Amino acid sequence: MTLTTKGALLWEPGTKSGWSVEEIELDPPKRGEVLLKLAASGLCHSDAHLDTGDIPLPFAPVLGGHEGAGVVQEVGPEVHDLQPGDHVVTTFLPSCGTCRWCSSGMGSMCDVGAGVLGGKAPDGTNRIHSGGKPVGAMSFLGTFSPYVVAPITGVIKIDKDIPLDKAALIGCGVPTGWGSAVHAAGTEVGDTVVVVGTGGVGVNAVQGARLAGASTIVAVDPVAFKREMAEELGATHSASSLEEATELVRGLTVGVMADRVILTAGVGYGNLVGPCGFLTRKGGTLVITSAAPALQGQVDLNLLDFVMSGKRLQGSLYGSCNARVDVPKLIELYRRGDLELDRLVTRTYALEEINQGFADMDAGRNIRGVILFD
Ligand SMILES: NC(=O)c1ccc[n+]([C@@H]2O[C@H](COP(=O)([O-])OP(=O)(O)OC[C@H]3O[C@@H](n4cnc5c(N)ncnc54)[C@H](O)[C@@H]3O)[C@@H](O)[C@H]2O)c1
Ligand SMILES: [Zn+2]
Ligand SMILES: [Zn+2]
Repeated sequence: MTLTTKGALLWEPGTKSGWSVEEIELDPPKRGEVLLKLAASGLCHSDAHLDTGDIPLPFAPVLGGHEGAGVVQEVGPEVHDLQPGDHVVTTFLPSCGTCRWCSSGMGSMCDVGAGVLGGKAPDGTNRIHSGGKPVGAMSFLGTFSPYVVAPITGVIKIDKDIPLDKAALIGCGVPTGWGSAVHAAGTEVGDTVVVVGTGGVGVNAVQGARLAGASTIVAVDPVAFKREMAEELGATHSASSLEEATELVRGLTVGVMADRVILTAGVGYGNLVGPCGFLTRKGGTLVITSAAPALQGQVDLNLLDFVMSGKRLQGSLYGSCNARVDVPKLIELYRRGDLELDRLVTRTYALEEINQGFADMDAGRNIRGVILFD
């Protein structure tokens, strides 16, 4: 039966028109899908990119949101591993487990995941409608709604003792940041790591670097409160700009510079890459996790320096994580008190307050803003 609920839509993505909360209809779950009742959804910068147009969409309207956690209400045909009552987190990239990439440990490159910005469910049809018109879903999900029909490849079962409003962050920001440091950068014991932009993603790169054994972690962010939180969660030093960080890291490493640099600023502008390159030591790794404006073709990078000093430039999607391995690992780290989630939620909002939530993100007031559903 069709479920009538509400959701935050963008009718004109790319025009900064903001989110409109209105009634939507959800079809029941089809083969390999589940209906979830969400407890919470994080406000990730990637959803803001849909509104600004940095990430262009081939369809409209779209139901946003991709970082959620909730309870399975109903399962569609051929769902064997989940049942009503199970707790799950959503993953913004599904992993099918059988394609070439999943089979070789590159779940974040899953062939099914290649369609997450196409607006449709993996089978090419729509589950969401508004006034009879099909509505696209961010990341096969659309977590800016109390109910979501999700493919089982995009949900991961978690134990019931984990508060769902905190577990939601494990849908995107936490694994993306943590994995950027642990997997993509390959942080090793004793390393010097610089994280550029310590918001919802970057603060978890700080946590990842700490857990991987980095000795020196430098948080770079223009917002003082973000630097303070990063220092509470593992950063040993902080700087308010890349220029300041360059001087700081030069002093800390006696001119060698950082083993790993991770770019997690709100927008991956090309002119940030060069300074990050100079922060990276010879043979070191610069990871780009920030989403950049899609039409940006220029990157300011001193290629001679990169070649002569054998540096590595590494893009990273979803922290290069394998969700089915890493999500349970992150849950266990949280349970043991090694990974902070609680203090990452700076403010909570009702769905109707979503535009305020994104305004607070833009103004630097939140590590993560989270929508709570009743
Ligand atoms: N690659 C992926 O799989 C993936 C997944 C999730 C998010 N993202 C992207 O990661 C980026 C960060 O997302 P978020 O949710 O943490 O955003 P956020 O807005 O919470 O945090 C961004 C931080 O960058 C800081 N910042 C802005 N300009 C800076 C600069 N020049 N130098 C240093 N710091 C700067 C801001 O003050 C803020 O604290 C976004 O571009 C987002 O789209 C990528
Ligand atoms: Zn995200
Ligand atoms: Zn796959």
